[in-house]
Amino acid sequence: MATHKLLLLPGDGIGVEVMEEVKKIIAWLESKGVASFAIEEDLVGGAAFDDHGESISEGAMKKAHQADAIMFGAVGGPKWDKVPYDKRPEAGLLRLRKDLDLFANLRPALCYPALADSSSLKREIVEGLDILIVRELTGGVYFGEPKIIEELPDGQQRAIDTQVYTTNEIARIARVAFELARLRKNIVHSAEKNNVMKSGVLWKQVVTKVHAEEYSDVGLEHILADNCAMQLVRNPKQFDVLVTDNLFGDILSDAASMLTGSLGMLPSASLGAEKNGKRAAMYEPVHGSAPDIAGKGLANPIAEIASFGMALRYSLGLGDIADAVDRAISRVLDQGLRTRDIAALGEKTIGTSEMGNAVLAALQKEMG
Ligand code: NAD
Ligand code: IPM
Ligand code: MN
Repeated sequence: MATHKLLLLPGDGIGVEVMEEVKKIIAWLESKGVASFAIEEDLVGGAAFDDHGESISEGAMKKAHQADAIMFGAVGGPKWDKVPYDKRPEAGLLRLRKDLDLFANLRPALCYPALADSSSLKREIVEGLDILIVRELTGGVYFGEPKIIEELPDGQQRAIDTQVYTTNEIARIARVAFELARLRKNIVHSAEKNNVMKSGVLWKQVVTKVHAEEYSDVGLEHILADNCAMQLVRNPKQFDVLVTDNLFGDILSDAASMLTGSLGMLPSASLGAEKNGKRAAMYEPVHGSAPDIAGKGLANPIAEIASFGMALRYSLGLGDIADAVDRAISRVLDQGLRTRDIAALGEKTIGTSEMGNAVLAALQKEMG
């Protein structure tokens, strides 16, 4: 049996709490003899800064490059508000994405049947929802230069962030979206703001060209990102695959999370290009370290567990186990088990470890 090299980077706040629940699943799969893992764990984010003054160490980066897959928790929190900008917890996450060239961030937003009443929107708007946001992850305003705050002669300061996209960066994320669309409902929406941004003009041009030359069998709709935000709330089921840039993708995916009931439900896969049969990959929930509930055992671990499911499927060739993980999540939700974020008013709730235990128990049933 192949041994899969997994690097766990729990990070800060609830990142640590939700990763514990993934560790339970890993330990059980290993003990059952259905999969074999070589696990390493390291610090990232504020935890790494507190330990050695950087948001990720060179040693952890080396392990990241060697891993078959990385499981990421979450980073950040008010404790590190005053650390220098390049050492802030989020810098560690951005370095991982950039150095590993994880340009394709897949963020599926799925409304589980049992949660159709947990969304802040009406049941009929979200019931059966299954959309996939394909977020460009290594370009755009997150990484464009200059990125500075400068002093002006009149004593003011001026802050500059720069949105940059090249043809190749747009074309490769467009191809990912079209490929995935072929496996789904064969329709891609591409969101940008070509009405105010040059990068939006180029985005639309390149997506149109890639579509015409390589994917004319797939449907393509262009949509302005602001309208897209509105349509996601008005009628989200019109979307299937939604491809967009780094910043719009960040914002639209947090909005989409509420269609599923909670930000605590959204997993993601951050994937690189395939090289010599191998693809760098990191799996991270869409949510952050949630300082408001950290340390209280209240976090929903499903986003992290479902991210592990994506790792099993996309990096480790264990699609059957991934299917079982997804069915286990569905089963606990069908049983009415709820962390606080997905509970209706007055409904009984359970904590992080109880939810993790319930998913594990359901997985054990699923896998005999
Ligand atoms: P957040 O995602 O941490 O939390 C937003 C809200 O959602 C909070 O009310 C939180 O309690 C709730 N929430 C999030 N995940 C949940 C879960 N699993 N279960 C239940 N409720 C959950 O966003 P924020 O508060 O804006 O940011 C806090 C910190 O996290 C910041 O430092 C930010 O930079 C960082 N952050 C990190 C990541 C990441 O590591 N991938 C992602 C987003 C934000
Ligand atoms: C996310 C987060 C990150 C982002 C931050 C923490 C850098 O919000 O993964 O969605 O903006 O990409
Ligand atoms: Mn985000």
